[in-house]
Amino acid sequence: MGKQDFDNYDKSMAEEFASKMFQFLNGGMLSLMISIGYKTGLFDILSVLEPSTSQEIAQETKLDERYVREWLGAMVTGKIVKFDPLTRKYNLPKEHSAFLTRESGVDNLAVFAQYVSLMGNVEDKIVECFRKGGGLPYSEYPKFQQLQAEETARIFDSKLTSQILQLNPNIMDRLKKGVKVLDIGCGRGHAVNLMGKAFSNSKFTGCDISREGISAAKEEAEKMGLTNVRFEVKDALLIEEIGNFDVITAFDTIHDQVQPTKVLKAINRSLNKDGLFLMQDIAASSQVHKNIDALLAPALYTISTMHCMSVSLAHNGEGLGTMWGKEMAIEKLTEAGFKDIEVKSIEGDIINYYFLSRKS
Ligand SMILES: C[S@@+](CC[C@H](N)C(=O)[O-])C[C@H]1O[C@@H](n2cnc3c(N)ncnc32)[C@H](O)[C@@H]1O
Repeated sequence: MGKQDFDNYDKSMAEEFASKMFQFLNGGMLSLMISIGYKTGLFDILSVLEPSTSQEIAQETKLDERYVREWLGAMVTGKIVKFDPLTRKYNLPKEHSAFLTRESGVDNLAVFAQYVSLMGNVEDKIVECFRKGGGLPYSEYPKFQQLQAEETARIFDSKLTSQILQLNPNIMDRLKKGVKVLDIGCGRGHAVNLMGKAFSNSKFTGCDISREGISAAKEEAEKMGLTNVRFEVKDALLIEEIGNFDVITAFDTIHDQVQPTKVLKAINRSLNKDGLFLMQDIAASSQVHKNIDALLAPALYTISTMHCMSVSLAHNGEGLGTMWGKEMAIEKLTEAGFKDIEVKSIEGDIINYYFLSRKS
């Protein structure tokens, strides 16, 4: 490596970057603290408390005061929580709690911070993958199903029946009349259970390779008293064994597949004549320079490197990655035989595109 010429460079550009580096470092560390604030319920409690001292906050949250006070130090200097040095009271402004609590629903951004620690757990193993190739299987991410379900429930609860399914009026009509529906890569099955509850004339099947996901899905269906939903541990490559369907959905799962091209073809074959396919996948372009201004692009490329691409490469898969993008998605849908492909978005959901298509 050559010696760098530090006398001959744009100093203001360097200073600007150095200040950005401090922001990145603080942001990364704060993400861990936000994750802790979310997991411990600190944000939920702070959002309803009057300005309070660290002792009062610790008492309300039933947490250790010393830890709470240090966490508050990060929150105050990170300009998330306000502090009055005279009263020594801390206060979480409503304008901030709107994005940090379980009550925030679709605006809950704190839930995402948990991905930072999830990824941190596998950093050293991912470094090995950089050196040797390959990837890490799902078993390396023991908390993934729980976190994923928590994150996507925000969208499903607030938008699945009221907006997402309405993107294609034909899907809505069919669901109301009564059809057979399959959701592949259903995880903990919340989307399937919500659809089962909303459309009692239709029959729903959810499949996933995760035993943990399927068992949580069954448990929720039972709690909700649903009789028109069923769940199966099944690889999406083998869905033709389950039967034929009028509507198939795939929420945030195609880019994770080991063999996404084959899975899309299997979906197409499993649809009845004039069957409809709804695929939710990440809102991105396949060309990196077109993603530069996307709000969450660096976060999503990171999740891809440390999880989505890796779980596919772990089995010598295609490794599409989270950011495979709209152009490639349309290409693969077309290759799999889908027709009339439309790409839609929903207000308030900046993460996803909705790809609507028909079998033929
Ligand atoms: C990002 S998660 C999405 C889960 C759920 N659809 C949601 O939106 O919350 C991707 C899911 O795809 C599942 N999956 C990955 N490959 C699969 C395969 N070949 N067959 C079935 N499920 C698969 C994973 O186990 C995981 O639950």
